[in-house]
Amino acid sequence: MATTIFVLNGPNLNLLGTREPEIYGRDTLADIDARLAARAEELGVAVDCRQSNHEGDLVDWLHEARATGAKAVLLNAGAYTHTSVALHDAIKAIQLPVIEVHLSNPHTREEFRHKSYIGMAAKGTIAGFGAKSYLIALDAALIL
Ligand code: DQA
Repeated sequence: MATTIFVLNGPNLNLLGTREPEIYGRDTLADIDARLAARAEELGVAVDCRQSNHEGDLVDWLHEARATGAKAVLLNAGAYTHTSVALHDAIKAIQLPVIEVHLSNPHTREEFRHKSYIGMAAKGTIAGFGAKSYLIALDAALIL
């Protein structure tokens, strides 16, 4: 069975490309997913890329990652990063390495973005490299 990495994206990330491009860039989520798939193929692994605006979907998908034997999860929880105890608990519950991903660097932005419930449970964080954050995180997942 191929090694699979789940790539989970939270609210508003479906709007990448047109959403505040000065902060998040002009790449769409489909562009990012395509780059991840190409890099994964080079590395001989599979990526399962999903996006939802609903917190519970992200919780369910974290559980599914564990249940289906995924190697790791890359998680950009969007604004739920800063609010979601449910996602924090799910990360702790699944006992899989979860890498927190952000396009922007939340620490250089508004105060309310400085707290991360994801980061407090994650293996590590890649933030601030735009769309490249995802590719760096994929490489990081594969050295674990
Ligand atoms: C984000 C940063 C979050 O603060 C914000 O709510 C997002 C995107 C990022 O990728 O930079 O939706 O996760």
